[in-house]
Amino acid sequence: MPHKVKQHILKTLRSSEGAWVSSESLRQPFDISRAAISKQVRGLREKGYRIESSPRKGYRLFGRADVLAPESLYLHLEGTRFAKGTIKVSEVTQSTNDDAKQMAAEGCAEGSLVLADIQVAGRGRRGRVWFGNQGDSLLFSMVLRPPLDPMRCGLLPLLVAVAVREALNELGIEGVGIKWPNDLLIDGRKIGGILCEISTDFDRVEYAVVGVGLNVNNDSDTFPEELRLTACSLKMATGKPWSRLEVLSEILKSMDRLLRQAWSGNFKNILEYWRGATLTSGNRVTTTLPNGQKIQGTALDIDDSGALLLKDDDGKVHMLTSGELN
Ligand code: BTN
Repeated sequence: MPHKVKQHILKTLRSSEGAWVSSESLRQPFDISRAAISKQVRGLREKGYRIESSPRKGYRLFGRADVLAPESLYLHLEGTRFAKGTIKVSEVTQSTNDDAKQMAAEGCAEGSLVLADIQVAGRGRRGRVWFGNQGDSLLFSMVLRPPLDPMRCGLLPLLVAVAVREALNELGIEGVGIKWPNDLLIDGRKIGGILCEISTDFDRVEYAVVGVGLNVNNDSDTFPEELRLTACSLKMATGKPWSRLEVLSEILKSMDRLLRQAWSGNFKNILEYWRGATLTSGNRVTTTLPNGQKIQGTALDIDDSGALLLKDDDGKVHMLTSGELN
């Protein structure tokens, strides 16, 4: 419900284009108090929306502070491949990965971006749903055109995890660990996930779409109940809200730098960094193979293709190219 109220407030204030909107007209559709509206407005301000209030006139929106908008992103991303592509920002979409795949198939430039405040059908790895509540999460997908052999594209998700961790470190957010292949965790709780989808044409990569979901300003009680013990956000981990625009710009700058290395065939530094940040190597893990067989053992390392080397309890080493660890 609070999300619906916030959504309604924003939509109404936006459509009134800077004119005052009475508190009465904001509260009516929900039959809630003026105090409840004022609370939701405070929440929106925390996220960066600049909302002025007046006891007699109500509320009005001015400026678009931490609101993800192509104009401000182009400014922040100058000099990177992301400033050269198309940037599409939607308030609501099905899945930014689906939108990016469509743009890619229509021939958009490498570095084109799709961002959304809400995804109604956000997808996670292995057919799962990805949750993100309005204005709190970063939900975005980028179109890449890797000049690589399709076999080497298994390294892309690792590269993205490294870029996100590096960017968060740059912002002063420490303690981010990577769980193979590319879950981002703080204190054992997931703050972000990465979904890479690749389209190939014979032995050539046509495009790769890389989707990132990062919990930025989510409060614990806004996660669905089943995620409350396992999910975390930057705000929960650091005790303060973060500008999504700043976090996103830092991630994309880091991505741009790492992609320059990767596209020239050099994954050495990326693999080294990943190895230094992983929470997986050396741990006992369990995984289920595509044929349903369960394997228990110790995660040894990743090889140069990004595959996980898992030594089972009989001493046999398995090479996992995809999967999930428990
Ligand atoms: C995971 O399961 O850990 C991967 C989650 C990836 C979610 C992101 S959110 C933006 C993009 N659009 C999607 O539908 N999924 C990815």
